[in-house]
Amino acid sequence: MILFFSGCGNSEFVASQLSAQTGDRLLRMDMTESNPSLELSSDEPLGIVCPVYSWAVPRIVEKYLDRLKVNQRPSYLYLACTCGDSVGNTVERFSKFVSALGWKLDFAYSFVMPETYVNLKPFKLDTSEGERRKIDNVRHRLPEVAQRILCREKAVEVVKGKLPWFNTYVTNALFYKLLITDKKFHVADECISCGLCERNCPLHNITMRDGHPHWGGNCTNCMSCYHRCPKNAIHFGSATLDKGQYFFGHLKPET
Ligand SMILES: Cc1cc2nc3c(=O)[nH]c(=O)nc-3n(C[C@H](O)[C@H](O)[C@H](O)COP(=O)(O)O)c2cc1C
Repeated sequence: MILFFSGCGNSEFVASQLSAQTGDRLLRMDMTESNPSLELSSDEPLGIVCPVYSWAVPRIVEKYLDRLKVNQRPSYLYLACTCGDSVGNTVERFSKFVSALGWKLDFAYSFVMPETYVNLKPFKLDTSEGERRKIDNVRHRLPEVAQRILCREKAVEVVKGKLPWFNTYVTNALFYKLLITDKKFHVADECISCGLCERNCPLHNITMRDGHPHWGGNCTNCMSCYHRCPKNAIHFGSATLDKGQYFFGHLKPET
C-alpha cells in the first residue's frame, strides 16, 4: 500500500510510478477524513510518499498518520519524499515520529524534483531545462528504487544538504510559526472564476464566493492553487508577482 500526499503533482507522480512498478496499491491521503483507517495484509509493505516542507515531512502528513488506524504494524515501511534540493534530517525526524506509532522505518529515499516553493522573494522556480533534467533523472531512478523496495532493502539514501539538524528543527519550527499562512493569498483581476483552485485544494480550504476564491485558514502552503491557476491570477503577497508556475505534467514549452 502506498499512501501519498501531493500539492503540485511531483509526489503523486513518484507514488503512481512506484505503485505501477511494485504492484502496490495506491491511496491519496484524504486530509479531511477525521478517522482514516487501513487494512494491511500480513506481509504488505506500507510506503509513505510526500513532499518535504521545510526539511521535514509536512505536518499535515504526520497528523494524518497520527489519526490513521491500521489493523497491524506494517511489515516493511518506507518513505519516498520529493524535494527541490535537500531534505535535511527529515528521515531521522520521521523515524522518531513513526516509532512513537509503534512502527519502524526500513527504507527512505529522496527524489529531487522541480521546485514549488515561491512564497518568499529569493525562492525561485527552476528553469524549464532544470525541471526537465530533474524529472528525467527521477524517471531513470524509479525502476531501481522500486526494485530495492521489492527486495525489502533496509537503507537510507537522501540528499541532506547543509545544516541538516538546524534546518529540520530550528528553521522548520520558525517556518511553521511565521510563514505558513493563507492570509497573504489574493487574486488578481485576471481570475476567470473557473473554480479550479477550489477543486484542487487538497485540504478543501478554498471556497468560491462571488466568483472568487476565499481561503479558510486551514492551509499548508502546498501552492496547488497558485501553480495550477490557468491565468496565474493567484498571488502570495508580492513574493510571487514576478514568478512563473509549475506543476507536474505541465512543463513550460522548450525555449
Ligand atoms: C511549503 C513548501 C516547503 C518546501 N520546503 C522544501 C525544503 O525544505 N527542501 C526542499 O528541497 N524543497 C522544499 N520544497 C519543494 C518541494 O518539496 C518539492 O518541489 C516537492 O517535489 C513538491 O511536491 P508536490 O508536487 O508533490 O507537492 C518546499 C515546497 C513547499 C510548497
